Amino acid sequence: MDIILLGPPGAGKGTQAQRLVENRGMVQMSTGDMLREAVAKGTPTGLKAKAVMEAGELVSDAIVSALIGERLDSVGASGAIFDGFPRTKHQAEALEILLAERGRKLDYVIELVVDEEALVDRITGRFTCANCGASYHDTFKLPAVEGTCDVCGSHDFKRRPDDNEQTVRTRMAEYRAKTAPILPFYEDKGLVRRVDGMANVKAVAAAIDAVLDS
Ligand code: AP5
Ligand code: ZN
Repeated sequence: MDIILLGPPGAGKGTQAQRLVENRGMVQMSTGDMLREAVAKGTPTGLKAKAVMEAGELVSDAIVSALIGERLDSVGASGAIFDGFPRTKHQAEALEILLAERGRKLDYVIELVVDEEALVDRITGRFTCANCGASYHDTFKLPAVEGTCDVCGSHDFKRRPDDNEQTVRTRMAEYRAKTAPILPFYEDKGLVRRVDGMANVKAVAAAIDAVLDS
């Protein structure tokens, strides 16, 4: 099963994708994670993407579509969760082609419906494990043992450079202007399912499970 998790910054795409990886063996295809990895390694893609990401703007369609294309062959029968991709009409069309070339097709586009103002708090409180990438939050999801990752036991955590309020506002404006307009493309195909992303993490997970098991 191949699905898209669609929603503005902080909607919970990454959090829910991680859960689907653990519970269903699906493969998370996060262009944000791929780009952050490229920036950390200082690859040519990373050098192009760094300033764009720090400004909260979108990296070029060609770059992100290529990143997805490179990794799609490694996705097995359990399927892919597209997280943060596609983000423009052009990327949505590129994904159709990439999937069709491999005899795959999208099963669902799950829209996480959220209140943007609440998301600013979610994002500015977010931190992740520097070792395994598990996601936490200062208020909503602290590790069970203070300062220790629940998943891997690491004591090393980090925060994203684009998680400040000003950049978050630009990221949200980009979502409204360029990403939300792709919803009708998927609505016409009958693929969109709406989930209340303001519920707690477990309730959102249950709602997504209900869609995938329907
Ligand atoms: P990307 O990494 O994709 O970031 P994003 O879309 O802004 O989304 P986030 O990762 O901020 O949020 P999320 O929805 O995953 O929320 P999370 O689960 O972490 O992109 C970053 C940048 O890369 C872009 O700005 C762009 O420059 C570039 N880029 C990436 N892809 C691109 C593309 N395709 N094209 C062009 N450019 C691209 O949750 C947030 C916090 O809330 C966490 O702390 C979490 O613990 C908490 N939380 C989650 N769910 C809940 C809940 N239900 N209740 C309470 N708290 C919750
Ligand atoms: Zn960890």
